[in-house]
Amino acid sequence: MYRTHTCGELRNEDRGKQVILAGWVQTIRKFGAITFIDLRDRYGITQLLFGESLNKQLDGDPLGREFVLQATGIVSERSNKNPNIPTGEIEINVSSFQVLNRSLVPPFTIQDDTDGGDDLRMKYRYLDLRRNIVKRNLHLRYEVNRAARNYLHHQGFIDIETPFLIKSTPEGARDFVVPSRMNPGQFYALPQSPQTFKQLLMISGYDRYYQVVKCFRDEDLRADRQPEFTQIDCEMSFVEQEDILNTFEGMVKFIFKEVKGIDFTEKFERMSWEDAMRYYGNDKPDIRFGMRLAELKSPFKEEERNTFRKEIEASGFKVFNDAELVGAIAVPGCSEYSRKQTDELTEWVKRPQIGMAGLAFVKYNSDGTLKSSVDKFFDEAKLKSLTEKCGAKPGDLILILAGKEERTRKALSDLRLEMGERLGLRKAEEFKLLWVIDFPLFEFSEEDNRYVARHHPFTSPKPEQVHLLSDSSQYGNIKANAYDMVLNGNEIGGGSIRIFQRDVQEKMFVALGMSKEEAQNKFGFLLGAFEYGAPPHGGIAFGFDRLCAILGGSESIRDFIAFPKNNAGRDVMLDAPSSIDEKQMEELQIRLDVKKG
Ligand code: AMO
Repeated sequence: MYRTHTCGELRNEDRGKQVILAGWVQTIRKFGAITFIDLRDRYGITQLLFGESLNKQLDGDPLGREFVLQATGIVSERSNKNPNIPTGEIEINVSSFQVLNRSLVPPFTIQDDTDGGDDLRMKYRYLDLRRNIVKRNLHLRYEVNRAARNYLHHQGFIDIETPFLIKSTPEGARDFVVPSRMNPGQFYALPQSPQTFKQLLMISGYDRYYQVVKCFRDEDLRADRQPEFTQIDCEMSFVEQEDILNTFEGMVKFIFKEVKGIDFTEKFERMSWEDAMRYYGNDKPDIRFGMRLAELKSPFKEEERNTFRKEIEASGFKVFNDAELVGAIAVPGCSEYSRKQTDELTEWVKRPQIGMAGLAFVKYNSDGTLKSSVDKFFDEAKLKSLTEKCGAKPGDLILILAGKEERTRKALSDLRLEMGERLGLRKAEEFKLLWVIDFPLFEFSEEDNRYVARHHPFTSPKPEQVHLLSDSSQYGNIKANAYDMVLNGNEIGGGSIRIFQRDVQEKMFVALGMSKEEAQNKFGFLLGAFEYGAPPHGGIAFGFDRLCAILGGSESIRDFIAFPKNNAGRDVMLDAPSSIDEKQMEELQIRLDVKKG
């Protein structure tokens, strides 16, 4: 027997028991004739006491960090207790031990505050995974997985696997492709999601499907993106948008309750895409704090979206006058910012990532007086009116950006998030969820000079707008039956009600600039299936890694994946991707013609 107990379970009540523990040597502390060893396993740390005779044995053949050790001994009460760990009241008075395996000196310390940099830890990820902090993350991931599965199981969903070697299903990113040996010159694509398969399963009658499934997308990486990531992918038949929102709001609430002990009693807020863009400048608003965007002047006709237009036009201030959008946020409690601080913010908005020409501000002092960088153009009364339009209070600093609509809106959104961050309003332990609904069906791609699907080509227009698909001049006005779930400013899930009639799907493909042949070639299987009794259906997929990361208080999904890729898409431990040998290439009948960079 290797062990009778784990390193995390013995307590004072176990005093006097003879036990066997096995684990890794965390620390070795020698005090004259005795040695203390902290032995670690997945469950915790237990202190081992090596007395005089064993100590001699150790002197002859010293232990090292990360050696795998088995120790037999008696549980005894510690004289020097450690209240910080659950086993801190006891130690094992070791009578015999055995080194099960030795270890080289690890390249970094296996501790919470390790001395190992990112690259080193990824190269030796199996050592990094021994650290508590990473262990905790993987444990949380498992808890989320289990809660989701339990919920879905009780709602009558069944888990059905779908293939990984498939034909390309465009979802906006590039495919990873796999050459086929048996079909020389031909390639499979790895799925960007099981989208078309889950729709086929609905047609087959499996009206509640789910899968915790790997998806593969060859896109530029960020903290919340990996080339292979996991979705909780779901689909239902005979449902409307409302059914889906309720079912999956229920799932997320269940996960929060199970994993974090948080009870959301209220229904999640629902915000139209238009409002999200208007008040937050992006489609995944962080609603943990206010500071909503105020439109002082905008390209929209409505008066309430041009609350300060007249004053701007009368001011002679060219920067505002020439701008498509003049927008502002009122930052609470910052009216006393120094010149240095406002200069720094100006530099911040001028950085290439933000790309604004400058920043205007109005300080609404606590005593009600106003001071502004634009008081040459706006007298006190006008500035006062501006503060009102922005919903500002005394003590606020109003930050104003002006320029092209899209860029300015994005910059306002970035500035809002930045100020929220600086003021500590984006607390990792506060969770705010909402649904964003009523997305546009299409967006115009300047690059491709055509409309592209905002979600994916299988998303249905709002039922009352289906007929607009026959009129290309209306494409920009069609709203989709699509929805995203947003958690703390991150899109954690997205889905839609699907098209389920062949003719509507064909019109959709036309709108996306696909010829009939191309549509048939790419999606003939789905169009064909629609002709054999396709039920109305819809679904959603959650970014499982993202959900776990945010629940764990981080925005980096890498910390929640056992073996992640780095920002260049590499697995530095495996050293992948890598070249393959000549023989494999020959079998695949592939000849390389790439310039090595
Ligand atoms: P979508 O493309 O919105 O929808 O993806 C669903 C969710 O997956 C997460 N996600 C990612 N997570 C990590 N790394 C990535 N590269 C990455 N890309 C996406 C996001 C996102 O909300 N088939 C549709 C779903 C449907 O319509 O049912 C789909 O895949 O959290």
